[in-house]
Amino acid sequence: MKGVILAGGTGSRLRPITHTGPKQLVPIANKPVIEYAIDDLRESGISEIGIILGDKGRDTIQAHLGDGTEFGVDITYIVQGAPLGLAHAVGCAREFVADDPFVVYLGDDLMRDGIGDLIDDFDPEQYAAGIGLQEVDEPSRYGIVDVDEETGDIVDLIEKPDDPPSNFALIGVYVFTPAIFDQIERIEPSWRGELEITDAIQGLLEDGNRVQSHIVHGWWKDTGKPSDVLHANRLVLDEIQSDVRGTIEDEDTVTGRIELGENSVIKQGAVIRGPVSIGESTIIGSDAYVGPFTSIGDDSFVDNVHIEASVAMGKNEIAADRKIVDSLLGYDATVTSKERRRPEGDKLVVGENSSLEI
Ligand code: G1P
Repeated sequence: MKGVILAGGTGSRLRPITHTGPKQLVPIANKPVIEYAIDDLRESGISEIGIILGDKGRDTIQAHLGDGTEFGVDITYIVQGAPLGLAHAVGCAREFVADDPFVVYLGDDLMRDGIGDLIDDFDPEQYAAGIGLQEVDEPSRYGIVDVDEETGDIVDLIEKPDDPPSNFALIGVYVFTPAIFDQIERIEPSWRGELEITDAIQGLLEDGNRVQSHIVHGWWKDTGKPSDVLHANRLVLDEIQSDVRGTIEDEDTVTGRIELGENSVIKQGAVIRGPVSIGESTIIGSDAYVGPFTSIGDDSFVDNVHIEASVAMGKNEIAADRKIVDSLLGYDATVTSKERRRPEGDKLVVGENSSLEI
C-alpha cells in the first residue's frame, strides 16, 4: 500500500507564522509536524509516500524532506498548485497510486497511536473506503458521520454540519480504493468553494459501496491554529523521555524530563522544570526559568525570563524581564527587555494577523 500526505493549504489560521513558512513544518516538540505523519506511515509498513504540495512553501518542504532517505521512506512530490480542496488534492495522486488501495493522511495532523490499526482493519474486498473517526466536542468544526450501529458502516457524511447527526468526526486519515477517483471527478465545489473529500465519499455510498468506520482511540490533534500547536506540543512533551546531548552545568536546578540537543548549554543557575524540549546550539542563561510543556528551537538564546507552556520555533532571542506563557514565537522572533531604553514604553514590530496580550 502507498501513502499520500496532503501538504497543500494556505495555513491562514496560523498567520503570521505561515506568512513565512508552511504549516506542515511548524515544530511540535522540535520536530516538524509532517515528520510525525511520515513516521506513522513508515511504522505501518508504508515506505512509498506521495506528498501533495500547494503553492505555499513548496520548495521549503522539498528542501526539508528531500527524497525521504533520511526518514527511511521514498518520497514522490506531486504539485496540486491552487488549494481547491481536499478532494482535489487526493485526485492529484491518481497516477501515483495507480490500481491499489492507499492511505491518505492530512499533513498537519498528529495521532498518538499512529495508523497501523486502521490499515490492518481495512478490508478492500468489502469496502471502498475506511475512515478514521474520533468523538469531538465541537462537531460543527469538522466533517461528521452517521454510523449504522449494527454493521459499523458509515451511512452518511456531512462537512461542518449545523445540525450534526453525531459527534464522530473525520480526523483526517482515510484508506481508499481507486474507486474514489471517479467520485472526485464528479463532485462540485461546496459552499466554501472547495472540492470536499466528504462529498466524494458520499458519492461512493450513493453508488452502493460500503464505507468502513474506524474509531481511533489515542489522542488526535489538528494543528491548524496557534492554540492547537501549543496543545499538540503539550501532548507530545507529556510522553517524551529524557535525552540530554548538550551540557547541563548544574543538575540540581533541572528537574523532570528534558530533551537537550547537541551543543546546547543550560547555564548554572537556570531553572528548568520538564517536560521541556530544547533544540541544538541553544543557550539557556543563568537567570532563565523554563517551565513545563515548553519547546525552544535551535540556535536560540533564553535568559532573564520566565517562559512556560510555549513554543519558540528557533533562532529566537528571548530575554525580556517578563513572564511568557501560552505563546508561540516564529523563527527569528525576538522578545527583549525595554529596561533602560529611552523613550520608555513598549516597542513593537507586529505583523498582519499577529495577536499580543500585553
Ligand atoms: C478537514 C476535513 C474535515 C475533517 C478535518 C479534520 O477540515 O474537511 O472533514 O474533519 O479536516 O481536521 P478543514 O481542516 O479543511 O477545515
